[in-house]
Amino acid sequence: MHPNLVVFDHPLIQHKVAYLRDRATSHRPFRALLYQIAGLMVYEVTRGFPTEAVEIDTPLERVTARQIGAKITVVPVLRAGLCMAEGILEMMPEARVGHLGLSRDEKTLKPVVYMRKLPRDLSAGPVVLVDPMLATGGSAGQALSILKESGAKDLRMICLVAAPEGVEHLGRTHPDVRVYTAALDRQLDERGFIRPGLGDAGDRMYGTV
Ligand code: PRP
Repeated sequence: MHPNLVVFDHPLIQHKVAYLRDRATSHRPFRALLYQIAGLMVYEVTRGFPTEAVEIDTPLERVTARQIGAKITVVPVLRAGLCMAEGILEMMPEARVGHLGLSRDEKTLKPVVYMRKLPRDLSAGPVVLVDPMLATGGSAGQALSILKESGAKDLRMICLVAAPEGVEHLGRTHPDVRVYTAALDRQLDERGFIRPGLGDAGDRMYGTV
């Protein structure tokens, strides 16, 4: 498997993932749930972020407090990463946002890069890659390679549902990157869909099913 995999077993997250899996959940609650789950996950994902001392004047006296000093970058993979990124930004509004457009070819299952817009100084702080679906791992693997080539040094990935195949792929290709997922599912099917999964997150988020 992956030496750096974290699967969330928190009841609140599991409760919300169950709603996401339900085929009766329409795009509006689906987006809200993705947003909420990402906001909950980010609490753990950011645990190791570096902080620095800052001097603050309270109404009563001066105190030395701690704040995150490094420049954080959140990178959603389009389209499906967008809602989770918004949930993360709710918690970290100072973060910059880079965008990677990757589309999985339905026949070859290989990712095709169609958009790439990243801050220049990715090495200036932690970088969080966001994509709800980790299926073959091709898209995430390529996204992580692009981020490393672009200078990212401190990388982690947040997904929602992962297949063992994708986790293994990232374990081989990017063992240094910690992967956080809300669920580790059974397998990929012959079409490359995660089973039991929740369908195609991008389509379900935007009502393009
Ligand atoms: C889905 C998903 C991931 C990718 C996962 O995107 O959001 O980016 O496939 O598959 P992989 O691990 O096998 O690479 P899709 O290509 O359906 O694009 P979309 O988000 O625009 O729907």
